[in-house]
Parts: sequence; C-alpha cells; structure tokens
Amino acid sequence: MCGIVGYIGKNEAWPILLEGLKRLEYRGYDSAGLAVLSNGAIDVRKAVGKLKALEACIKDNPPAGSVGVGHTRWATHGRPSDENAHPHTDCSGRITVVHNGIIENYLELRTELEGRGHKFTSETDTEVAAHLIEEYYAGDLASAVREAAKKLDGSFALVVMAQDEPRCLVGARRHSPLVVGLGDGETFLASDVSAFLRYTRRVIYVDDDIVVSVGSSDVRLFDLDGAEVEKAAETVDWDAAMAERGGYDHFMLKEIHEQPRALRDTMRGRLNPDLARIELPGINLSEEDIRRIERIVMIACGTAYHASIAGKYAIEELCRIPVEVDVASELRYRDPIIDERTLAIVISQSGETIDTIVGLREAKRKGAKAVAVTNVVGSLAARESDGVLYTYAGPEIAVASTKAYTTQLMVLYLIALYLAQVRGTIDESRAAALRAALWELPGQAEVILNDYSEVVKAAERYYCFNGFLYMARGINLASALEGALKMKEIAYIHAEGYAAGEMKHGPIAMIDPTFVTIAIAVQSKTYDKILNNIKEVKARSGEVIAVANTHDETITNYADRVIRVPQTEELLSPVLVAIPLQLMAYYVACNRSPNVDQPRNLAKTVTVE
Ligand code: G6P
Repeated sequence: MCGIVGYIGKNEAWPILLEGLKRLEYRGYDSAGLAVLSNGAIDVRKAVGKLKALEACIKDNPPAGSVGVGHTRWATHGRPSDENAHPHTDCSGRITVVHNGIIENYLELRTELEGRGHKFTSETDTEVAAHLIEEYYAGDLASAVREAAKKLDGSFALVVMAQDEPRCLVGARRHSPLVVGLGDGETFLASDVSAFLRYTRRVIYVDDDIVVSVGSSDVRLFDLDGAEVEKAAETVDWDAAMAERGGYDHFMLKEIHEQPRALRDTMRGRLNPDLARIELPGINLSEEDIRRIERIVMIACGTAYHASIAGKYAIEELCRIPVEVDVASELRYRDPIIDERTLAIVISQSGETIDTIVGLREAKRKGAKAVAVTNVVGSLAARESDGVLYTYAGPEIAVASTKAYTTQLMVLYLIALYLAQVRGTIDESRAAALRAALWELPGQAEVILNDYSEVVKAAERYYCFNGFLYMARGINLASALEGALKMKEIAYIHAEGYAAGEMKHGPIAMIDPTFVTIAIAVQSKTYDKILNNIKEVKARSGEVIAVANTHDETITNYADRVIRVPQTEELLSPVLVAIPLQLMAYYVACNRSPNVDQPRNLAKTVTVE
C-alpha cells in the first residue's frame, strides 16, 4: 500500500510531485522516489525514509522537466531501501514505473524475464512490470502497458513514463485506486484526489482493467482489448484546505477538531431540522428488501470494526435483527452463514482495505445485498456494493482514524433508525427522542472540544505509565476498544479494551500503581455496575480516570480523575466518549513520540491481506 502520483503539464514537475507525495504520505512512508523526464532522459531520485529525505536529496540539484512520476512506499516485497524504492525502470532506463498494489505472480514473471535476459536491480514485485512493458514496447506506451496488465495477477495501480513518448503518461489499475485530475493545461494521475486538490477538483475515477493515457490537455481510456471507453469527469467537493494542517501541530488534532462539522455534514439531508424522519436514499434498498432482512453481517477492520461493534448494539436494540460483526480478515475463512436474506454492511474509511473488500465479495457471492459505509467517493467498497452511504468526514490524513470513526457511528445510527422506521420496531416517541438526541451530537462534540484541559492534564500525569486498561459495558465496549487502539497506535503503550464485567476474569491481575484504568462511566443501564468495577480497581491500588457526564457528582467519590462529556442517550454516547479518548491518546503520544500522524509500522490504508 503505497501512494503514486504523475504529472504532465506546463510547470516544473518535481515540486508538484513532492507536494502530491506529501498528501499521500499517509499511505506509506518508509521510502520515496520520483522520476522526471529531464532533457530527453529519465532522471530518477530515491531515498529511504520519510519524504523529507527525498526532498533533501533533490533540493540542491532538482531534475528539470514538466513530466514526471512519484511514489511513497510501505514495503511489502523487499525491505525499505534505496534500491527497492520506486520508480523502477526497465533494463534500458527508458521506461519507468510507479506502482501501488501487489503483483501476485511476480516470482514466476521474474524468472521468465530473467530467462530472457532482463537484469533486475531490486527485490520488488513492481520491477517485473517495468520489464514486461519494455518487452511489449514498440513505440506505443499505452498498448505496451495494456499487454503487460493482462499478464499481471493481483492488484495494481500503475503510472508509467517512457523517454520516447514525452507527451504522455500512462496509468492502469486493477483493485488499487487511480484517479485522473483534469487541470488547466496540466493533468495529474494519483492514488487519491488529495494529491492534486490544490490544482483541480475535476476528476475521472479510473475503473478496474482500464488503461488511461494522458497528455497535458487530453485523456483517453481503453479497456484491455484496446477499445476506447468513455468515462465522464466529476467534480469532487473536497477542497485543498481540507487536506492541509490548518495551523494545528498534527493532522490528527485537526481531524479531532473537525468532528462537529463532519458529524453535521454526515447527518445533512438524512435527518432534517424538522427531525421528522430519517431519509437514506443511498442505501438503495426497497422497503420490501428491508422487511425481508433476517440477519446483518458487518465487515470491517481496525477502527471501522470498532464502529461496527457499536452498530451491532444499536441495530439489535432498535431493529431486533441479529447482527454479527466480523473482523474482515476472519470472515472469508470461516464459511460464514450468509444468504440472500442477509444484509452485509461494509465499513471502511478508505473503501480500499483489501480484507474488507474480499469480505464484501464473499458476502455478495453468497447472495447478500451489501451497503458500504465509506468516506471515499468512488472507492472499491462504494462501487462493489449495492448501496453506499458516505461519511462526509472530508480527507482523513492522520493514520489514526478519528473523524472517520465518529461519522461511521453516525451513519450506523442513521441506518439503525431507518431500518427501525421501515420495520416499525420502535415506537414513534422513542424514535423521536433518538432523532432529537442525534441532532444534538455535533453541538455536544463542540462543547467537549471547547475545553479539554482535564484531558491534557491527565495525559501529562500518565504518559510514562506502563499500561492502560479501558473498561466499559454495553455499547461503550466499542469506545473501550477504540480508546485502547488509539493509545497503542500512536503512543506505543500497551493498552487493552475490556468489557468491565470480564475484569475479574483476568485483567484485574494487571492492576498496580503504574497501570491506569480508564472507566467509561457515562449514564447507562449499567452505571452502578461500572462504579463497582471502579471500586475493584481502586481496592488494588490502581489509578482510575473516569469518563462521565457533566453533572455527575457521584463519580468524584470513586475515580481519581474525571473527564466530562455532555449527557446523551446511552446508545449514542460512543460518539461523545470517543473524543476525549482520542485526545488522551494524542496528548500522551505527543509526550512520547515525534510521529503522531505517521506511527511506526502502520499505514492508513492496508491493501495487502
Ligand atoms: C488501518 C488504519 C486504521 C483503519 C484500518 C481500516 O489499519 O491504520 O486507522 O481503521 O486500516 O481502514 P479502513 O480504510 O478500511 O477504514
């Protein structure tokens, strides 16, 4: 999972490529490279490490030219090194390739190509693409890429540049994203629109098994048989400022602060100010389809999986439909019980996580209807599902997911209320109360973000502790798991999320004065039981931070510290509880690590199984 970018136009390519790579660095950041067609020859520059290393090595002697390609890498085949960094070239150095994805038959292809005399300089799967294209090249780059694409198994988005065709770049994709940006006398190719948003918002999403040939003012698309295909341009509603840090120290902090806006945008048009009912046209299921649903399977990874846990509680309570949640990587190997009366809900910020996509395909193969909850317009999940409900979070750049999570929760509540509305499973007064409470959430999120000094103080106190335990009951189990994941991801502290009732079956043995317990103690059916769990921790000399409601006086008698959130319906409380937990992880991480936005070993979008 890497980021790729290409530029052809009237300006110097290298600063535009570097800028694009900066926007894509969330996709991988162990090495980077770019190539520019400079004075009739391809000039390749690479550096292991973050983009800054590449920047440093080209700044004093940049490659001149207005056509080029760039890449930021998250290693799969071959360790991070200068040799394995992209772009990769053919034997002659006249063709160069950047690639995102995995070429599954690369070993076989490499053996064949070496047998025919090709010399390889890296350990990557990508390099076979460069040599294959070289074999097919006879003066028409688009047709050589097409022929090579036919030979490749696996996933790829490629951007290819040939020394002998300085007026074009050629892209191709299968299962990895590729978008064309249509500028004014300049054209971009990239993994994601954020790479070129400051230049244009007019885009063409390239489909699977399509080869695209772009000049500075023209774009042609072909299928793998060489037939020209038409695809209309679209205008994206993200703007460049959304992909900037905007004065915040990190993207993560900016994205945490964007949650009130993101929640409002995600609700807009689905729940109107009259609060009368939920409208979800994107779900693309008839009322008859909805009444026929017998079970729901949710498919997701990472943070999105935690959103699905909350979704299960909400849907089961409001719709009385059994819901199974599955980490996507497990679903396909366990022959899940799915049929045409199953609804699959696929949750993925990127819409690109391969385990999730494979799970979606498996559910569809077994006859389920699928609805995607995703943040990326035109992503794989969106395109392969029967319906799509977008989370209008805007670009999420920090690797640790924040606003995508709370907007996923918002969409799942909207789904739960919509299904309940159609199936008549809750009475109107309860539905009205939930709609009203949903409407209040963005404003309540603002209240939390207006003053979180208690969180910052707690982070200062606890950042050098050895471990964090997050305990909760009911729907906030999702909050406990997500809070712990945030802490692990960015602060590198061992953290666990646990159902509080399970504490006595294991985690309580961990409690000592260097171990902090964060208890989610907002008003709920099980509030008293959480108080008991807090007592059990205190009795063993553990430190307890409680996340509790604004006017809860009782809690101060139990916990060492209290972090306040406004009160809402228990079912909706994970949206508000998430925010201080995100901030807690963020400020603990700021005290410990310089890489909050790009934690070690992780990448934002995982396109490998
Ligand atoms: C990676 C990211 C997580 C994310 C997960 C699923 O692990 O680091 O933040 O939750 O992938 O990503 P998705 O795009 O499918 O939501």
